[in-house]
Amino acid sequence: MRVGHMSQGIVGINLEELCVGTVCKHPVEDRRGMLLLGPNASITSDVLKNLRDREVAELRIDSRDVEAICVEDASPVALTLEHERKERIAKATPVKDLLVDRYDEPLSVERAAELEQGMLLAKAHFEVMREQLSDNVVLATDGFFEITNSYARSMVEDIDQTVGTVGAAAASCDVDDRSVRMAVLGMAVATQMGLTGQQILELGLTALLHDIGFNLMGPSANKPVGLMNEAELWEYRKHPIISVSCVAEVPQVSEGVQIAMEQVHEQFDGSGYPRGVKSHRIHNYARILNVVDSYLQLIFPTNERRGIIPHDALGLLLHQAGRGLFDPRVIKAFLHIESLYPLGSIVELASGEMARVIRRPRSGFADPVLQSIEGQRIDLGLGEAMVVRPVCDPDVDQIRLCPSVLETVLWHPSHPKMKVG
Ligand SMILES: [Fe+2]
Repeated sequence: MRVGHMSQGIVGINLEELCVGTVCKHPVEDRRGMLLLGPNASITSDVLKNLRDREVAELRIDSRDVEAICVEDASPVALTLEHERKERIAKATPVKDLLVDRYDEPLSVERAAELEQGMLLAKAHFEVMREQLSDNVVLATDGFFEITNSYARSMVEDIDQTVGTVGAAAASCDVDDRSVRMAVLGMAVATQMGLTGQQILELGLTALLHDIGFNLMGPSANKPVGLMNEAELWEYRKHPIISVSCVAEVPQVSEGVQIAMEQVHEQFDGSGYPRGVKSHRIHNYARILNVVDSYLQLIFPTNERRGIIPHDALGLLLHQAGRGLFDPRVIKAFLHIESLYPLGSIVELASGEMARVIRRPRSGFADPVLQSIEGQRIDLGLGEAMVVRPVCDPDVDQIRLCPSVLETVLWHPSHPKMKVG
């Protein structure tokens, strides 16, 4: 299985194609042209091991050596090793570098079905987790790794569709849904910030596990926050600590994940809970998830108000960021992921037509790609139409905030009642 290209007598091959016991007459280089083996070097198992340890994946060899030193085709064992090696590299690579560019493509119907299926699968795993907790069993987290892996793959394949489907407002959202949405949106923001595959999977796991403590708390901790008295609020704010206690014995849940789980509700200015930690003393994953959690709080209804349309929720977050509530780097990345008209939201065009945001702008924040109700693609970046205003999604219980309210409203993720003044 030859990879790469043949030009000027140089051929790109996979490391696993090298045949032990042969001799290469000409120099062997890596992908960037660095010399790996000199002329007349013997290919031994030690040489292969050394190259694998150095994470060399692809080689450039002289085409005259191909027949002499390459196996006819890689064996199944070699292919497995190659697959494992690729996975290792993917985990150490910024996911941003792996994203497939789908800007010019329509949304995939198959992917939409997969994403919907992913949510159902996640719900099944949460059910298993609840059974384990009620039986006092040490939590097994394999199912959660499966969820984060599956969404990470969808994100690499099409980040806009994944965020626009799973991270958008919907008609309903229970605790499980919300954790999944938080994981996917958080993973997308982390991707924008340049985190590696391994870190992104850990961040996703943090989001999925961060609220599991509620399952061990009484009914008063599970009622709407707006209806709680002071004592109940105190209890409620212990839920991140209780969530961590559920996974403290699980070896696959790293210390970093446990710290981040506890800190998801800490605010950048120190005004969060449970401990009031501030600024960069808050784990990076928790700083990302705090912004995402705040956004989701706003776009979904509470017992006191309807959901706020994503465009205005984003505006409100930016205002609160100006007050120091959030890590500015995370806010910037979040804006890059959602743009001013968040993925999945609806806008009205100058023609009076309604359209849904399906892709972020190629540049800037204001001109996304839309899809009309009839399914027609409209690229605002090409001047194909003009947005008049964001509007409520008819399938979701939403309201708009008027601009004066947006500037004066006082809102805090830990005290989610809105005060205008
Ligand atoms: Fe929480």
